[in-house]
Amino acid sequence: MHDEDGFFGADVASSYDESAAEMFRPDVVDPAVEVLAQLAGDGGALELGIGTGRIALPLADRGVPVHGIDMSRAMVARLRAKPGGEAIGATIGDFATTRVAGTFAVAYLVFNTINNPTSQDAQVDCFRNAAAHLAPGGCFVVEVGVPDLRRLPPGQSAVPFHIGPTGCAFDTYDTVSQAMSSHYVTIVDGCAEYRAVPFRYVWPSELDLMARLAGLRLRHRWEDWNRAPFTHESTRHVSVWEKPAD
Ligand SMILES: C[S@@+](CC[C@H](N)C(=O)[O-])C[C@H]1O[C@@H](n2cnc3c(N)ncnc32)[C@H](O)[C@@H]1O
Repeated sequence: MHDEDGFFGADVASSYDESAAEMFRPDVVDPAVEVLAQLAGDGGALELGIGTGRIALPLADRGVPVHGIDMSRAMVARLRAKPGGEAIGATIGDFATTRVAGTFAVAYLVFNTINNPTSQDAQVDCFRNAAAHLAPGGCFVVEVGVPDLRRLPPGQSAVPFHIGPTGCAFDTYDTVSQAMSSHYVTIVDGCAEYRAVPFRYVWPSELDLMARLAGLRLRHRWEDWNRAPFTHESTRHVSVWEKPAD
């Protein structure tokens, strides 16, 4: 449900780690932490959308001071309840606009969370806010999928991605505004329950322009955290923009 915690209220927060279990696997988390720890060097890290600490906790375990911003008290409460969670600073607020004290060597926004702000302006604000928190020479890192419009035939605006006996799920696209929504229909005791989550998809080149508006320039674009080359067949990317040192 959509309340002051956004789309990550108590219900979602209570099952987040289990429902995203694949994203908590060491072979997924470790390469991300490695890249972020290297970029942090001797400095600190700021996570926009820190959630339950999937990346922040192992990054802090590496000795990197981590601070997070998240609008969901419920998600942050889950982070706080984990071993080491109390040592991580977390500020409740919108990561497009919320400022925290200090400057950071790296700011990062992972797991498609740049798609959560549903307007281009808000996404631009995320870049501006991340850049404002960076020390000169610092980096902003975004991990996000490449928009999957190849699956959208002409004249069609919906694409199913799960169909099964207990429910179905599909994405809808508005190719004018780049709004998209993921819709979930679940059958519980013979009754259908429905929920939808809105996003805004965004192209790599568009992100580069947002970065430029924020005074950042592209340093790396990889297909994944293992630094595989980004190609025309890549379905996602890890992009690193730097704040000029001078
Ligand atoms: C998909 S989860 C990712 C959490 C964590 N980064 C991870 O990788 O597991 C997205 C998180 O971003 C937060 N979030 C989404 N939009 C936000 C916004 N505009 N401001 C602050 N937090 C936001 C949600 O509350 C949620 O905790």
